[in-house]
Amino acid sequence: MIKTAILALKAGQLIHLPTETVYGLGARADSAEAVIKVFEAKGRPRFNPLIVHVGSLELAQKIGHFDARALTLAKAYWPGPLTLVVPIKDVAGVCDLARAGLDTVAIRMPEHSLALEVLRGFGGGVVAPSANKSGRPSPTSQADAYDETGTMVEVSLDGGPCRVGVESTVVSLVGEGHYLRSGALSRAEIEALIGPLSHNNEAAHLSPGRLARHYAPKAKLMTDVVVPPTDSVLLAFGATDFGGTVFQLSETKNLGEAARNLFSMLRAADRLNPALIAVAPIPEEGIGEAINDRIRRAAGFIG
Ligand code: TXA
Ligand code: MG
Repeated sequence: MIKTAILALKAGQLIHLPTETVYGLGARADSAEAVIKVFEAKGRPRFNPLIVHVGSLELAQKIGHFDARALTLAKAYWPGPLTLVVPIKDVAGVCDLARAGLDTVAIRMPEHSLALEVLRGFGGGVVAPSANKSGRPSPTSQADAYDETGTMVEVSLDGGPCRVGVESTVVSLVGEGHYLRSGALSRAEIEALIGPLSHNNEAAHLSPGRLARHYAPKAKLMTDVVVPPTDSVLLAFGATDFGGTVFQLSETKNLGEAARNLFSMLRAADRLNPALIAVAPIPEEGIGEAINDRIRRAAGFIG
């Protein structure tokens, strides 16, 4: 299966690449012909650049310019759920389309043995956005990835359920540096190593993927619900006495468990075609920040 996946990448075809965060839709980064298939399969706007996945820090440094801060973060947190945006060095290694024409590139080394075997066997950079259709919840299992884009891939690798469940933290090290997307690695864990980063709404334009409605189910969704309406489906966090249908993100209020359950439960709730998906309040701490970010975008709140 791994060999077939590597051959598919070489041939410019798409694969499902399991990672520790979410399932990716992978293609070789150096080929516009291959990368265009990713945009088409997802229905993704062309102005939204992709993350290049690598199997080694050497390859990462061939692709992009790593300053001292980038190197510090890569050495501390790779392989792991962290994406670094740096100036592009190898313009042929990552085609223009993959970068949406920018002179910067997003790079990450996933912490998943199957992904690393594929990446190291292939040898070059592999673009891999989440394997969902654009705007939908990210897949955190092979079955969910298959539901979204199964007909578009040559090989769909099954790497088990994702350990993290929400997408990687994205940090830009271009200029002063920006915290662009929350994820498993908190801002505090990043800033502890490289000092303060700005995190403001003006920085959102630096990450074209931070579109308003994202990760969205078909049903209407409401956040921070304490008393759910009777006809809603509840995504609970901790014990509840709600009488309707309940999906429990974490009975013991464990944020890591809630992150792992988030997207699959959003999907499961949506399949019931409810009048409303109500989500219980979730503390804004650690990975809770990323969970709330994804839920608010699913509800269409963030501009
Ligand atoms: O966890 C993840 O990162 C997953 C797995 C599959 O690795 N991938 C993922 O890719 O979430 P995607 O395409 O859904 O998200 C890429 C994010 C977008 O918000 C995009 O705008 C941003 O990274 N991005 C990519 N290149 C960028 C660049 N040069 N400058 C700023 N933001 C960039
Ligand atoms: Mg995505």
